[in-house]
Amino acid sequence: MTGQAPAIILGIETSCDETAAAIVTRDESGRGRIRSNVVRSQIDEHAAFGGVVPELAARAHVEWLDHIIAQAMDEAGICLDDIDAVAATAGPGLIGGVLVGLTTAKALTASLGKTLIAVNHLEGHALTARLTDGVEFPYLMLLVSGGHSQFVLVRGVGHYERWGGTIDDALGEAFDKVAKLLSLGHPGGPAVEQAAKVGDARRFKFPRPLLREARLDFSFSGLKTAVRLQAEAIAPLTDKDVADIAASFQAAVTEIVATRSRQALERFRTDLPEAMPQLVVAGGVAANRKIAAALAEVAEEMGAKLVVPPIALCTDNGAMVAWAGAERLALGAADGFEVVARPRWPLDSPDMKVGGDAA
Ligand code: KG4
Ligand code: ZN
Repeated sequence: MTGQAPAIILGIETSCDETAAAIVTRDESGRGRIRSNVVRSQIDEHAAFGGVVPELAARAHVEWLDHIIAQAMDEAGICLDDIDAVAATAGPGLIGGVLVGLTTAKALTASLGKTLIAVNHLEGHALTARLTDGVEFPYLMLLVSGGHSQFVLVRGVGHYERWGGTIDDALGEAFDKVAKLLSLGHPGGPAVEQAAKVGDARRFKFPRPLLREARLDFSFSGLKTAVRLQAEAIAPLTDKDVADIAASFQAAVTEIVATRSRQALERFRTDLPEAMPQLVVAGGVAANRKIAAALAEVAEEMGAKLVVPPIALCTDNGAMVAWAGAERLALGAADGFEVVARPRWPLDSPDMKVGGDAA
């Protein structure tokens, strides 16, 4: 989009265990710039429970959000009067947390007379590569985080086609559960990757669920069970056993993700023969070096451009919400106070289109 008025957006993200706020600007040529991006992770609060506790998360968002917003404004050198709009995640996510962020955005926009933009968290992930790398539509997004694992064809702002997803656990969740059963701590992804470094990835042949089927879906729960049964069978586990299980698990999921991504890029080439194939990765699992390397290989083999934004922007943050808000604002979007927080909100719902019907 070109020729739009420049805009300054405050973005608020509270849908899971990060309290985040950011200031992003968008110039008339459509380029975005992150002026500040403050993220407070609640990992320590939830660590003892081995996962995110929704009530604790909501309470921490209430306690911290005002400070995080103030810090974001401060670091950007911008005051509330300067901003054009407040964009907040309105779902999907843990409903208590989403309510905290969305209600704060409503209060701010009401008192300041600014525009409110309700952002779908997944759209934030989907559009980040345009902020960081100026990627043009269309492209394929692979989102692999603690809560989501899906392929989405991104045709334009608000125009998304879901090509596949997980039928049970998300990939990050599978890493977290495997880490838990190997007593590696939370969050599990980095811990499993670390343990796997010294492990033998060929010692255990774990299943690759669904992989023989053509559909672009994932299933990780059977794999996780296979890992548990294997661990029980050889318990008590030595450090070497833990490393070998971690490495064998990581090898299985890497093969699954690489194979599915190859199939998704094949579909991209068939369905959009005029377009340059592009694969954009989002979500915390993008930090995994083995998976990232496998995706780079697949992209090269398929003649596709691979875009992996900096990891701090692959994980949950306020800049992605601000940027999605900026892209929507440029198309004339504005939400009313009746907009509600939603635990579920698929990217391909009809109300994602700018000016579309509210659900
Ligand atoms: O995107 P994210 O920060 O939060 C949401 O879930 O929205 O993703 C966090 C997930 C966790 O499940 C974490 O274990 C996983 O990403 N993760 C990793 C790695 N770093 C983070 N998984 C595998 N390898 C990693 N290095
Ligand atoms: Zn996320």
